[in-house]
Amino acid sequence: MRPLMLRALAGEPVERPPFWLMRQAGRYLPEYRALRTEAGSFLNLCFDPARAAEVTLQPIRRFGMDAAILFSDILVVPLALGQSVRFESGEGPVLDAIDDEAGLRRLEFVGSFESLRPVYETVRRVRATLEPDKVLIGFAGSPWTVATYMVEGSTSKQFSRVKRAAFAAETARGGDHWFARLIDMLVEATIVHLSAQAEAGAQIVQLFDTWSGVLPDPSFARWSIEPTARIVGEFKKLWPGVPVIGFPRGAGLRAADYVRETAVDAVGCDSAVPCSWAARVLQPLAAVQGNLDPQLLVLGGVAMREATLRILGALCGGKFIFNLGHGVEQETPPEHVAELAAIVRGWNNAPIQAAR
Ligand code: CP3
Repeated sequence: MRPLMLRALAGEPVERPPFWLMRQAGRYLPEYRALRTEAGSFLNLCFDPARAAEVTLQPIRRFGMDAAILFSDILVVPLALGQSVRFESGEGPVLDAIDDEAGLRRLEFVGSFESLRPVYETVRRVRATLEPDKVLIGFAGSPWTVATYMVEGSTSKQFSRVKRAAFAAETARGGDHWFARLIDMLVEATIVHLSAQAEAGAQIVQLFDTWSGVLPDPSFARWSIEPTARIVGEFKKLWPGVPVIGFPRGAGLRAADYVRETAVDAVGCDSAVPCSWAARVLQPLAAVQGNLDPQLLVLGGVAMREATLRILGALCGGKFIFNLGHGVEQETPPEHVAELAAIVRGWNNAPIQAAR
């Protein structure tokens, strides 16, 4: 039988919902921290296929998720385009910010990513090792989210520089503005990056639009939906059998337009999206993925159990993939992840399907 994740995405009957967790590989796992120390730095780990493959598989061995997600980062794309990217411990990513025409000219995309070969090699190794009933998810950041880091130079609270660049580009004469050209470059680069992952064995790809929610209307359509629609359209021509999951975090009501206009196969919902609304409005359009609050996984116990059962109850009547509303927190006790996995695995869809 085809893997549960692919059946759920296609809307075929499933015995229970598949699950995986964003940031399921990472610092909350002691075995991750050990390999990260061996590698010396986060970026070394990302470019070390043997260790990156091992880190990708660690959560699957421990908890049996239905999907592995490639261990890498959305910021390997700006790195491969020629921007300097460092990860400072406790501080997050640091980039040499680009905020004008001259900054854009320092970047170059030649149409393929030689320097990302170790990442694609990691995909190959993971796919060769993973059980046939588990799928491998490849990923990239959306152009807008990647651009926020490229223009701000770090994680941001106000997004002042990148927003002003985007708003200026919207009214630029003839539509010509360095920020629009940066987004165009990221669209092309992302298509190539995702295709190379599919070529190497990724069976699903996810586009992380972590910061789409900071865009006002109608900028959301211009900088989140439009570039994503171009990527999905081109990617699907090349890889029609590889489903695309979009994660427009913070999009709220606009998630419906996002799904309709980008034609993603599934939409990730953050924890603020009401499950009843997702079931009524989003599930008829695409599979829904989400949306337990990551802090409930840190807390564990009754609160986590009740919230999980509520989400399962609300969304198992349609196409659904259980996940968190954002990534696993560093403070998460691994035992809580094991308990969550047991709850989802113990869920039986049969009564719901019989009742319909
Ligand atoms: O397990 C997985 O989900 C796969 C690997 C993965 C990482 N980053 C590893 C990582 C994935 C899919 C990402 C995506 C990513 N990276 C996003 C989108 C998802 C999200 O969380 O919103 C973003 C915005 C980034 C950029 C990024 N990478 C930031 C802001 C940081 C610093 C914050 C932090 O948690 O340290 C990173 C570092 C990072 N990426 C780590 C990991 C495991 C921690 C690095 C370490 O070991 O110190």
